[in-house]
Amino acid sequence: MEQDTNGPGGVDHLELGFFGANGPGTSLSKVPERWYPTWENNRDLALAAEAAGLDFHIPFARWKGFGGESDPAGVTFDPIVWAASLLAITKKITLFTTVHAPFTHPIVAAKHVSTMDQIGPGRVGINIVSGWNADEADMFGIAQREHDERYEYTKEWLDVMLKLWTRDRPFHHEGRFFNLRGAIGAPKPRGGKVTLMSAGASSAGRSFAVGHCDLLFSILVSHEACRDEVARVKEIASRAGRRVDVYTAACIVCRPTRKEAEAYYERISREMADEPAIDNALRLLGLDCQSFSPEFYASFRGRFAASIGHYPIVGTPSDVAEEIRRVRDTGVRGLALCFMDPAGELPYFRDEVLPRLVDMGVRRPS
Ligand SMILES: Cc1cc2nc3c(=O)[nH]c(=O)nc-3n(C[C@H](O)[C@H](O)[C@H](O)COP(=O)(O)O)c2cc1C
Repeated sequence: MEQDTNGPGGVDHLELGFFGANGPGTSLSKVPERWYPTWENNRDLALAAEAAGLDFHIPFARWKGFGGESDPAGVTFDPIVWAASLLAITKKITLFTTVHAPFTHPIVAAKHVSTMDQIGPGRVGINIVSGWNADEADMFGIAQREHDERYEYTKEWLDVMLKLWTRDRPFHHEGRFFNLRGAIGAPKPRGGKVTLMSAGASSAGRSFAVGHCDLLFSILVSHEACRDEVARVKEIASRAGRRVDVYTAACIVCRPTRKEAEAYYERISREMADEPAIDNALRLLGLDCQSFSPEFYASFRGRFAASIGHYPIVGTPSDVAEEIRRVRDTGVRGLALCFMDPAGELPYFRDEVLPRLVDMGVRRPS
């Protein structure tokens, strides 16, 4: 996924892929046509995404659903097993996995990811989650660390993983969180670099991503805020002699007419919103995530219902392509697409939106 940097916003090929197909997508809506993960539909979706020329596929990591009538994220395939299996049947697309640093020992995670890289050399990414969900921490019986300390822990966790991938002799690691004797790991990743990504919008989260990862995965609140975020990330990274890019995500509703698209967005964001599940998700986010203010959560309730807060891109193929161009112009490198029914909606997006993006110079032809 080498990027050229000569387009508006510095990106001449906006990378696109799906987010959340290993579970029931990102929506907190009860609509019956929503995605429900099976191995068969995930296999077919990954192959269809690759054939359509999409660049990546990102799962989420969830151990417990949000309750309510539909229990969003309640059924979620393990993102390591999911990504490894899809790497085996695809050829070009980058497969991310998502790993909770507090719930997974770095020796285990290093082995998982380096094994994935034997299956799909050079096509592996890891989205590192430092933890925010108190219900899940309780389920593991693990006390949540104080917010910023979580990223200190993840920094050391990643350091151990990188040593295991690069050192040929057993080493001792004596740190604040890990005390390891004679640690060694093989196989090493064979495709060269594994793409490191972290999602977290707090200042500690951003510092961790900018200092130690290749990508920050951030929530798109508005184009202006995103443009500022990209500029800030790139500036801090370049001061440290690093290159860090930003991925973000959007909820896509694309229909032949604007009226149809808006009616469907109304259905998923309001009429069929799973209110108790939204309350629960907001409680958990408000409780232990410093990404956004309480006002943000209150005013963006519709966005939560549609796609757990992701920016809505709603309209005709021309509207959707134009909005995606505006996202590209903020300077982000990648946009993760969230559909209610990714397999059902991909053909229309592939045939009507992707060619427009090529014509607009937002993406290179696949
Ligand atoms: C785009 C995006 C994807 C995320 N994916 C996951 C996930 O799959 N599992 C998870 O537990 N947390 C996920 N998170 C949560 C973050 O990893 C992070 O813990 C949370 O945003 C709180 O961090 P902060 O307080 O530093 O902003 C995601 C966040 C964003 C913005």
